This record gives sequence, structure tokens and C-alpha cells, in this order.
Amino acid sequence: MTTTLGTPLSPHATRVMLLGSGELGKEVLIALQRLGVETIAVDRYENAPGQQVAHHARTIAMSDGDALRALIEAERPDLVVPEIEAIATPVLEALEAEGRIRCVPTARAARLTMDREGIRRLAAETLGLPTSPYRFCDSAAQLQAAIDGADGQAAIGYPCIVKPVMSSSGKGQSKIDGPADLQKAWDHAMAGGRVSHGRVIVEGFIDFDYEITLLTVRARGADGSVETHFCAPIGHLQVSGDYVESWQPHPMSPVALERARQIAAAVTTNLGLGLDGQPAGLGLFGVELFVQGEQVWFSEVSPRPHDTGMVTMTTQWQNEFELHARAILGLPVDTALKSPGASAVIYGGVDAAGIVFDGVDEALRVPRSEIRLFGKPESYVKRRMGVALVRDDDVETARAQARLAASKVRPRTA
Ligand SMILES: Nc1ncnc2c1ncn2[C@@H]1O[C@H](COP(=O)(O)OP(=O)(O)OP(=O)(O)O)[C@@H](O)[C@H]1O
Ligand SMILES: [Mg+2]
Repeated sequence: MTTTLGTPLSPHATRVMLLGSGELGKEVLIALQRLGVETIAVDRYENAPGQQVAHHARTIAMSDGDALRALIEAERPDLVVPEIEAIATPVLEALEAEGRIRCVPTARAARLTMDREGIRRLAAETLGLPTSPYRFCDSAAQLQAAIDGADGQAAIGYPCIVKPVMSSSGKGQSKIDGPADLQKAWDHAMAGGRVSHGRVIVEGFIDFDYEITLLTVRARGADGSVETHFCAPIGHLQVSGDYVESWQPHPMSPVALERARQIAAAVTTNLGLGLDGQPAGLGLFGVELFVQGEQVWFSEVSPRPHDTGMVTMTTQWQNEFELHARAILGLPVDTALKSPGASAVIYGGVDAAGIVFDGVDEALRVPRSEIRLFGKPESYVKRRMGVALVRDDDVETARAQARLAASKVRPRTA
């Protein structure tokens, strides 16, 4: 089996369409560009980070099924690569079933991971993987009943976490410590969900020692079969459900690491199943896991590069974006670590368009540091605008230095 790549902007170009062109998509696009792939960057707004580095930029509402189908039929990409969750996935499934597109890793994986219900039921109920106890609720009354066990099932109890089924980056998510918090948590979930269809998941709180992202890659081996590769575990710190720091490797006991790998292999193997049941799905996944002692719980999975995996831009020989680009093209991958290191997020700090960044020079004077500014046209106080990366043999030093470098970058209105 051989992979053939074309020349961009020629009749035999290999064309890849990214659905979502934020900071993660931008790096995937750069990796694809380096392999001479012709790239089409799609986003819901103009001049999204990835659109700035692609051959073609297209702006549509990706949740609009008709618009999405029309764009894919007009562009006829060899590969469609979802980079965000909020996409009209039924259209991807239909086009894949008609044999008109190859979706990464599969259209079914995009559908199952676009909301919390599909993936949680798959992991816990179909695959029998350990997860927090959970229930789906459509009203504050149902939520109260689930917590109390008044719905005839085991009580979720306190503390617990409520999240809209359709949301990311911690939006609409809150912890409930007792009955007094319930209504507020429900209202917060209703305001923070991506679509207001009023459904939440309530999860029992896992008092984990640490949480990791296990980047897992499904790539073709020399004989054409699909192999599973693991990166070193990435530790991360979340504030209000949003990642602020990550580091690699996070130390784990051999037993916990083996369990984490088994869970990641089970989930990604299932999500990689093609329509015919063949293991067709290729690419990188970010498997989120909670760890307490030697116990490991599955939390969620992204069938694409993960925000906490930005640290691999400095810690791995092939970062998560290059791994994704290689894997989806059928090329071999190497997940080896280059050096321990850490990342720290640079937030916008202001609500304004066309902001400027002071102090990038000071940040880069931190030894072994790198800075990425994503180029987002508009800043919000809590919008991720860049990231600082630092390598150091000692992960704790790397974390402190990454925080330091990030703090030197000062966004402001122009
Ligand atoms: N059941 C739980 N027990 C304890 N902590 C939890 C639980 N669920 C979520 N958390 C904490 O909240 C964080 C965000 O949760 P989750 O990943 O489900 O939300 P998200 O909105 O999808 O976030 P992101 O998009 O950044 O991954 C987790 O990384 C973890 O720190
Ligand atoms: Mg998460």
C-alpha cells in the first residue's frame, strides 16, 4: 500500500477541508501545507486563524446542513476534517454513506462526540468503561430527582457537576454542593449551552488526584493495517472547565498508565469503525481521563487534536498536529517525546478587535520558551489568544517558566 500525494493547485492536488479553523486547525493546516496538501479552511467568521495559512478560506455556518453540503459538493475535497464539535454531522454521515467524502476519523465519530450524550453512552453503556455516575435531565425537577435517586435509579448525590449536553471549554458548567445550588446550576447550564434544547448531564464528582489527556493516534503501519500509538500522558490544570496549563509527561504508575491506554484504545477503536465495520478511521484523538491512585475513569474524547496537547509543539518530535496530518494521509507516525515541557494559555484580557501584544520580546527571553499568537481578529477577556511553551528537564520548572513567559505577554487595545 502506498500513499500518493499531489501538487497543490493542480488537477492532481490532494485536497483537505478543515471544518473549523481556530488555533488547533491552524496548526493542522500548517502541517498539511508542509506536505504539499491543498487546504480549504472553513469557519463561521472571516479571517479565522486557520484561514490565514490555508490556500482557500470559506466562511459558512457549519451547523447549517444545506450550506455544509453545498460547500463540500462544490469543493470536492479528498478528506473532510472536523476541527470543532458544532457541525451538521448528519450531512457528513449522509455524504460518507453515499461514498462522496472520507471524513476524519469517521462521520459517526464526529456525530457521537458532538454532544456529551452520544459519547458517554457509548463509553459507559456500550463499551462498559469506568466513568463518573451520570444521568441526562431535561428539567430542574428531573435534575433534583437524579441527584436524590428519586427517579428509581442510584442517587448521583452531592457534590456533582452539571453540564449542558452541547457545550465545550466549561461553558454552562457548574458544581453543585447541596440543594441550595441546584436552580442556579440549572439556569447557568441553560444560558451556557450551545443550542438551547435544555438538556444537561449531571455527573457524580470524581475526587481525582490528577487528570490527563492521553493523545492516541490511529495510523497505518507498513502492512496497511491500522495501529494504535500513544503519546506520553499530558497533565493539565482546568479553571472553570477551561484549560489554563498543561505539561508533558505527567508521571503515572505503570498500572494506571496501562489502564489509561486500555480505555483509550477501546474508545478510539470503536470511534474508528467505518460504516462496514472495518477499522477505517485514522487520526489523533485526545482522550481525557481522571486518575485516583490506580483507578482510571474515562471523561470524554476529542476525535481530533486537543487544546491541552498544544504543549506537544515543544515536547514532541512530531507534535499532535503533525501526527494528525500524517495519520489522516495514511503516513507513519512517531509519538516519541523530545523533552519534558509545559504550556500556559495567554488570554485576551480585553474585549476588543484588532488588539496588540506588548512584551513578546520579554516572554521570549525566558530560556527555552516559545510563543504562539493565534491571530484571532477579535479578543475577549477570557478568549484564548495565544500560548507560551517552555521545555525543561524538570516539568515543575517548565510549568513555572511557561506561566512566567505567558504573563510577560500583555494584550491591550490598539
Ligand atoms: N465528574 C467530574 N468530576 C470531577 N471533575 C470534573 C468532572 N467533570 C468535569 N470535571 C472537571 O471539569 C473539567 C471540564 O469538564 P469537561 O471536559 O467535561 O468539559 P468541557 O466543557 O468539555 O471542557 P473542554 O472542552 O475544555 O474539554 C474537567 O477537565 C475536570 O477538571
Ligand atoms: Mg474536557
